[in-house]
Amino acid sequence: MELHPVVVHFAIGLVLISIVFDIFAILTGRKSLEDAAIWTIVFGTIAVIVAAVTGIAEAKELSKEGAIPPKAISLLKTHRNIGLLLMLIVPMLAGLRIFAHVKKESFLKIVYIVIAVIIALALAYQGNIGGKLVYKYGLGIETMKGH
Ligand code: HEM
Repeated sequence: MELHPVVVHFAIGLVLISIVFDIFAILTGRKSLEDAAIWTIVFGTIAVIVAAVTGIAEAKELSKEGAIPPKAISLLKTHRNIGLLLMLIVPMLAGLRIFAHVKKESFLKIVYIVIAVIIALALAYQGNIGGKLVYKYGLGIETMKGH
């Protein structure tokens, strides 16, 4: 079973929902929402790392099987580069979120949310490229293998 298509939805979804929890935590002052924001960014970070690792493994496998159409190579390289960058940046983002929590600095939380929104947009863009790889170029689709 390919793990990449399974885990990517957690990577994108958990980071996004964490920001939503944080915004509602600020608006309502509820601590439970802040706790939820922290736990979801932590698990989102793990999911991003697993997404990148499984993505590399999947690309290697497809390449070995000759299942990457030449037209898709440049998009796959862009997808790989953004994925690796996200694997480095998202753990730093989670670190900043925990730091803001420990310091109890409201300003730091706002700075965090602005950065997190930019990174979430990059994650959504990454998901969009991944979708193109599958639905436009047929990567990972069994019937496309060997074409
Ligand atoms: C933050 C990291 C990443 C995210 C969020 C992500 C997201 C996605 C998404 C949403 C898809 C479409 C899945 C589907 O609809 O079935 C996809 C496909 C794909 N991605 Fe990634 N990706 C990431 C990292 C990587 C990396 C580092 C590589 C390495 C080259 C990679 C290689 C692939 C390949 C080969 C496919 C097509 C086959 C498949 O779906 O498994 N991805 N990705």
